[in-house]
Amino acid sequence: MTKTSLTLLALACALTLSACSAGKPDAEAAGEAAHTSSSAGLPKGDIRAGQELATNGGQGIAPCTSCHGAEGNAPIGDIYPKIGGQYADYLEHALQAYRSGARAGGNADVMAAQAKGLSDQQIADLAAYFHSMPTQLRDLSNVN
Ligand code: HEC
Repeated sequence: MTKTSLTLLALACALTLSACSAGKPDAEAAGEAAHTSSSAGLPKGDIRAGQELATNGGQGIAPCTSCHGAEGNAPIGDIYPKIGGQYADYLEHALQAYRSGARAGGNADVMAAQAKGLSDQQIADLAAYFHSMPTQLRDLSNVN
């Protein structure tokens, strides 16, 4: 191969690459992002890490099960919701809302205090763990 054709080849490659990345549709780029994070924009959760945190607590974080009960399904009183088997996205959005203060006032302040110190990764882990537990949640079908 001559020096000129090598240069041309390199130029063609460079042009093709930039054409590819510049021409990538936004929807496709967004689709790729959706595969690597939840709808709450969090990293992928780890069930084991979530279980450890949920049952034993962490630095400045009380065990979730001390209020929500074993597997999130045996709350200590009426104001504590069951969270076992809940959709992971729901749990993530709820925990983000408590952390940011968007969900506050009344009983929510109790939970906001728990969520304040949680990192994005911890929220994702906790959501993955509680989602993986059996559910006692019901939908509204057949409710009068
Ligand atoms: C001191 C008791 C207590 C602890 C500990 C606690 N929670 Fe809560 N949690 C509550 C209360 C009370 C509510 C209801 C607040 C409200 O009415 O919004 C709640 C609500 C929630 C909700 C919303 C459920 C729904 O159906 O909307 C989630 C999710 C949740 N807690 C997750 C956790 C996780 C995860 C942990 C551990 C990091 C945790 N909680 C630790 C008391 C607690």
